[in-house]
Amino acid sequence: MPLVTIDDFQIEVPEGTTILNAARMIGGDLVPPAMCYYSSLKGSGGYCRTCLVKVEQGSAKDPRPMPKLVPSCRTTVMDGMVVRNETSPEVIEARAGVTEFLLINHPLDCPVCDQAGECKLQDLGYEHGKLDTRSEFRRRTFEPIDIGDKIKLHMNRCILCYRCVKVCEQITDGRVHGVIGRGDHAEISTYIEQAIDNDFSGNVIDVCPVGALTDRTFRFKSRVWYTKPVEAHRHCEKCCGKVRLWYKGEEILRVTARKDEFDEVAKLENGEAGWICNECRFEKKHTNDWVIDEITHVDRHSVISANHYESDEGERFEEKQLETAALPHGDKVTLGEGALNPNNI
Ligand code: SF4
Ligand code: FES
Repeated sequence: MPLVTIDDFQIEVPEGTTILNAARMIGGDLVPPAMCYYSSLKGSGGYCRTCLVKVEQGSAKDPRPMPKLVPSCRTTVMDGMVVRNETSPEVIEARAGVTEFLLINHPLDCPVCDQAGECKLQDLGYEHGKLDTRSEFRRRTFEPIDIGDKIKLHMNRCILCYRCVKVCEQITDGRVHGVIGRGDHAEISTYIEQAIDNDFSGNVIDVCPVGALTDRTFRFKSRVWYTKPVEAHRHCEKCCGKVRLWYKGEEILRVTARKDEFDEVAKLENGEAGWICNECRFEKKHTNDWVIDEITHVDRHSVISANHYESDEGERFEEKQLETAALPHGDKVTLGEGALNPNNI
């Protein structure tokens, strides 16, 4: 198995592993950001250039460095390869440049954007952005396109990562959505502006790294850091039925797929991605539709953890939910008075 060194950490990985995935196996700060790669979507990656890294040594056999920075999501490791990510000033400078480019047309409307707090571009801007823009041009604007009553498209926030297009290509049938135009004129569209009404189309919301595709049923209801996520499941004929419920008080404001540490849809026990259907996502917004499994662990670096509840109170709440989890599907789960009220936890 090839041995690769990334920021001075060494790991042996299976043949054919990319640098990005090797870094993910090590974990921590040395994992490059990825705005377009998505492990559950075939052919993703190679569009955004946020994952650039420096290859100081190509392999044990040919120790020459690679002449320029390479996208880690598309570059396979070789035995003896030495890679620099966080420890390379060149990479940090390049990432700042990519961030600047991504923000040239992206509006700074985080205060009104539903993605705020979960936006990968916001994170990237926070870590690598500059205070000012050098661009003197007006940002691109678009005629609004209606893609149905469940999903809202803000084309001016799109970074053309192609993830949503790949979702439509790979997990829905009858694709009606893609990228039209080229270069500066490229935009995602439903071709003939028809609604994306496939049963799995809602997954485009979960894969979008920015606020270009958001859930209309959640729109403007709450800032995400005022909500409390819990893992839940139901028996569903169409999908895995394993979801994350986002509560505010005792009301479920939205339902999403479960995400992993890299903010990608979590894998199921059988190794497949846990995509969820539109019925689970948009139509099951009552606690008694679900069996609650556990409180979602929220990473401390996330703004969502500002509404921290992994305290003794939280553990007691979790124990209570596990007691009721044994109830047959569809029975009402007893939450207790104000158990999910953010003011009470
Ligand atoms: S809408 Fe979102 S997921 Fe689709 S290409 Fe644009 S940024 Fe990517
Ligand atoms: S994540 Fe590698 S190019 Fe976008």
